[in-house]
Amino acid sequence: MSKLHPLARRMADIEPFHVMDLLAQARLLERRGHSIVHMQIGEPDFPTPTPVIEAGVKALHDGHTHYTPAVGLMALREAIAGYYFNRYGVEVSPERIVITPGASGALQLIMGVLINPGDRVMMADPGYPCNRHFVRQYEGQPIGVPVGAETAYQLTPELLNEHWSERYSGVLLASPSNPTGTLVPQEELHKIADFTRSKGAILIVDEIYHGLIYGTIARSALEQGEQIFVINSFSKYFGMTGWRLGWTVAPEGYVRELDKLAQNIFLAAATPSQYAALAVFKPLTLAILEQRREIFRQRRDYLLPAVRNLGFHIPITPEGAFYLYANCERFTQDSFEFTQKLLTEAGVAITPGIDFSHHQAAQHVRFAYTTSINNLKLGVSRLDRYLNRKL
Ligand SMILES: Cc1ncc(COP(=O)(O)O)c(C=O)c1O
Repeated sequence: MSKLHPLARRMADIEPFHVMDLLAQARLLERRGHSIVHMQIGEPDFPTPTPVIEAGVKALHDGHTHYTPAVGLMALREAIAGYYFNRYGVEVSPERIVITPGASGALQLIMGVLINPGDRVMMADPGYPCNRHFVRQYEGQPIGVPVGAETAYQLTPELLNEHWSERYSGVLLASPSNPTGTLVPQEELHKIADFTRSKGAILIVDEIYHGLIYGTIARSALEQGEQIFVINSFSKYFGMTGWRLGWTVAPEGYVRELDKLAQNIFLAAATPSQYAALAVFKPLTLAILEQRREIFRQRRDYLLPAVRNLGFHIPITPEGAFYLYANCERFTQDSFEFTQKLLTEAGVAITPGIDFSHHQAAQHVRFAYTTSINNLKLGVSRLDRYLNRKL
């Protein structure tokens, strides 16, 4: 085999997503005839709503197969602005909305526009793992601040103050969070926005799980003024993960820079996906999505007490997303090995904490309720049998 050219140093800091390996292992077991309950998958099990699929197919037939402007179709930017007004009562100029290939694309653009080598970006640990890699990609330093149940696994104004130094150029929050499903209350967000503003730092709020909030009214960080980058996506609530479409609402002064970078790194988000997404805002589609949200709520309301009864500790009730972040210390001090065993010996796939954190990763696992209640029940009964036998 020929010798590889040495890799860029940054690659040593880019970690794989362990859950993907777990998924591959689960699929292999299934091919060998094993039954696996999947509670590790971070995307809705529902297909894309039919009106959206039809709009995507029509776009292809109508010849919408060329590039759009790098910031996206104006019609889609306007539709998103309308959505913010109708759903949140917030007025946003469509000019501030930049369409991207998923929230992932938005995160990369924002980091690219704002980070100089060595700049620090603060984020909660546990949190969505790719965030630290996006920062690293631009030679910044992602700093995960350990958070626990006492702050609902979110950064607070006090934590920002305690950890702040001149080297920080930004703060990244996700509300609801992956993996914890917890929210940043609007009063806290207000103080955090004041804090970052006073330090001349940027605040990025990832609202990708926003449509999936249960029992409380969703409020967007956009209420906190124009100097915040808000990120969202068609992936989760809108059920379009594979279409690779998201957006950011950016402070006006940054839009041209985001545009320039988008022109260079991906030219534009996929055109048929953008046309398809226009159908998301139709009343019929929104009604389908709201039904699904209700199904996710029912699943959470089943799974949360069931998992607690098994002996996992979940101190905070997650108000959104489709995850439970559970302390598994009663069963193990090595959640990675534990998830491997649950997969091969109990036929249940869940995600080890290591995918989301350095802080207490070995004591935590994530359950995703992206499968039917019947499957969740089967998973819980398998876990019950396995864990009780083991104890
Ligand atoms: C918190 C969070 N942000 C961003 C993303 C990226 O999503 P996408 O690029 O599909 O929009 C994910 C995906 O799981 C996520 O959980």
